[in-house]
Amino acid sequence: MTKTELWVCQLATTVPNISGNKWLKLASALRKRSAKQGILSMGGAFSNHLAALAAAGKHYGFPTVGLVRTDKIDLTNPTLAQCLQNGMYLQPVDRSYYRQRHTSEFNQKLINCYPDYLIIPEGGSNEEGAKGVMALPLAQTPAGEASLLCCATASGGTIAGIIQRYPDIRVLGLAVVQDKTLIDKVNACLPINHNFSNWELTKASSAYGKVKAEVVAFCCELKPQISLEPIYTGKALYQLFELLEKKELAAGQRIAFFHTGGLQGLAGLYYRKLISETEYALLAADDNEEACTAV
Ligand SMILES: Cc1ncc(COP(=O)(O)O)c(C=O)c1O
Repeated sequence: MTKTELWVCQLATTVPNISGNKWLKLASALRKRSAKQGILSMGGAFSNHLAALAAAGKHYGFPTVGLVRTDKIDLTNPTLAQCLQNGMYLQPVDRSYYRQRHTSEFNQKLINCYPDYLIIPEGGSNEEGAKGVMALPLAQTPAGEASLLCCATASGGTIAGIIQRYPDIRVLGLAVVQDKTLIDKVNACLPINHNFSNWELTKASSAYGKVKAEVVAFCCELKPQISLEPIYTGKALYQLFELLEKKELAAGQRIAFFHTGGLQGLAGLYYRKLISETEYALLAADDNEEACTAV
C-alpha cells in the first residue's frame, strides 16, 4: 500500500487571536500603517479577522475600527465582546449596504468618515495580505519538501500567498464557502497578468458557516492530536480526508496542510448553540501549539 503523509503546519503567536493565517495577512498592513494611523476592516459578527485585528491594535497600541455585518452590535456575542475589550470601535452595517463593500462609493464614504485609518478588505485578503502569507515555509515539512499544499479557502488571500511562494508545487484550496466568484477572488489577490497555473479549488459541500454534525464529530475525534473548529480548518481537513478516501487525490503524496487558526470562533458556535457544551469543552480545551504535527 502506498503511504500518504499529512503534515499540519500550525503557527502560534504570543498574541492571542492572531494565530494561523491572521498574523501573515495583517503583516503588510501593520508595516504600512503610519505612526498615527489606525486600521479599519470589515467582517461578519463572528469574524476571526476582526478578532485578530482588534488584538493586534491592542498589542501594538493603535486604534481599530470594525464594520460588522449586522443590524445591531450584540454585546454578548463572544467575538464582538472580545473586540470591544481590545479597544475596537464597532460599527454595525446592514446586510444590503454591506453587499456594496466592493464599490468605489462605499470605499470613498469610509475614507471620508475615517480619514486617519488604513482600510483593509474583509478577511485581510488583497495583494498585500497574500504577500504576507508568502513568508510561510509551508512546503518544508520535517520529512522533506511536500508535493501538495492545502489550506481552507474563503476570501482567497491565504492560498494566493502559498501559490506565489511555491509556483512549482501543486496547491489545493479547500473551499469552505459556496462562492462562484472564489476563483476571481483568488486571482484578485495575485499580481495582475500572473501566469500561475499550480493551483485549483475544491467545491464546498455546504454553505459557509453551516455546521455539519459529521464535521464536528471529526474535529472531536482528532482533538487529542490537533485543535480544529468546524467552519474552517475542520471542514477543510474533513474534505481532504474525503478526497483521499474516494481516491480523488492520489495516494503516496506528502501533503502539507496549513492550520489557519480560527479557534476563537468556537465560543461563538457554542453561544449560538451550534455545538453542544460537551463538544465546546472538548474542542476549546488546551490549544495545541506545536509548530508541525504529523497525523
Ligand atoms: C480560520 C480561518 N481559516 C481559513 C480562512 C480562509 O482564508 P482566506 O480568507 O484567506 O481564504 C479564514 C479566513 O480568513 C479563517 O478565519
